[in-house]
Amino acid sequence: MKKILFVDHAAVLSGAELVLLDLAIAHAQDSQVLLFEEGPLRQRLQATGVKVVVQQASEQVLGVRAGTGVGAVKAIPALMAMARQILEMGRGFEVIHANSQKAFLAAAIARFWGGPPVIWHLHDILTARHFSRTNRRIAVFLGNAFASRVLVNSQATGAAFVAAGGRESLVKLVYNGVPLHRFEGLEGQAAAIRAELGVGNAPLVGVFSRLSYWKGQHVLLEAMRQVPEVQAIVVGEALFGETEYAERLRAIANQPELAGRVHWLGFRNDIPALMSACDLVLHTSTEPEPFGRVIIEGQLAGRPVIATAAGGAIELIEDGVTGRLVPPEDAAALAQVMGELLKQPDLAQKIANQGKMSAQTHFSLEGMLKAFDQALILD
Ligand code: UDP
Ligand code: GLC
Repeated sequence: MKKILFVDHAAVLSGAELVLLDLAIAHAQDSQVLLFEEGPLRQRLQATGVKVVVQQASEQVLGVRAGTGVGAVKAIPALMAMARQILEMGRGFEVIHANSQKAFLAAAIARFWGGPPVIWHLHDILTARHFSRTNRRIAVFLGNAFASRVLVNSQATGAAFVAAGGRESLVKLVYNGVPLHRFEGLEGQAAAIRAELGVGNAPLVGVFSRLSYWKGQHVLLEAMRQVPEVQAIVVGEALFGETEYAERLRAIANQPELAGRVHWLGFRNDIPALMSACDLVLHTSTEPEPFGRVIIEGQLAGRPVIATAAGGAIELIEDGVTGRLVPPEDAAALAQVMGELLKQPDLAQKIANQGKMSAQTHFSLEGMLKAFDQALILD
């Protein structure tokens, strides 16, 4: 196995960091992880025996949001410091795996200074909606000049990189995969969770994404007005400073039509069991989702999934076969499809079964690790 230095600027548990966790565990024997902040990812890595080093980066770089334009210039000295740390620690590793955009920018500079080859694992769709022009230009320029490969989590992510000027020959598709065993033996847990929530026999739906406007939890709340019998669990918290949005959601949920119907569960580590307690698993992103782990997780939990028809989600769901797709930010369409599936349990079960088979076939951890190892062979 290759000696890999995995680098990520973040240590929160969002989808990209959960991918890193699985990759680093599989490569723990010969590899290490470098993080630029303290956080739960460090504990999770260490608990499984992965060697981790944390070099706290300054807020000047950690605080820069993807949409920031030329203002990000202030972050350059801090980025250089990160690059020096990667260069230093990178000695003795065959390859640097940069799992976040900030980690990649620093790793590219380290490569320029003579560091090991860099693999950029791109988890984001590089479009104007998410990234400022300056940000995209710099990332794509450095990608073309210094990345030996750009791993993308979906065809949609790859296409956006190329559309932004990225070299197509660098791109390798590595779909996310999750450990299938986490989704086995859930049968007994659903009833206990429902009892704990006190939802009785009410139809229960769930969203499992971090709280952020583009994850679209507000679309679910809006749709619930049109399906009055439904209750919902909202699982996840604001991971990247979106506390204002989280407060807005709570205010909406306190309105009379919704009061008592929305259960706020915060960040949880028992996603498979929570999903199994739901009649429907929903994905409500208002923007193209780069991949959408929650979609394949809902399928693996054996629940019918309704997702937004954009980005990577289209690669995970065939509408009407392995799940249902609705247009982004269309609460009326979401309400209608929720109603349809809740009224037709046989159809919902059929879609759920087909979705589960599809996810087991295409999105297992083994599949991801195999694709990852192949993508690391640099010729
Ligand atoms: N997740 C979790 N606990 C929560 C909410 C979400 O562990 O309370 C996990 C979820 O199971 C999924 C990941 O966070 O594996 C989110 O990944 P996804 O690709 O759906 O979205 P991202 O946050 O990466 O954009
Ligand atoms: C990012 C994307 C998400 C994807 C995850 C793992 O966080 O937003 O869609 O599933 O990375 O690749």
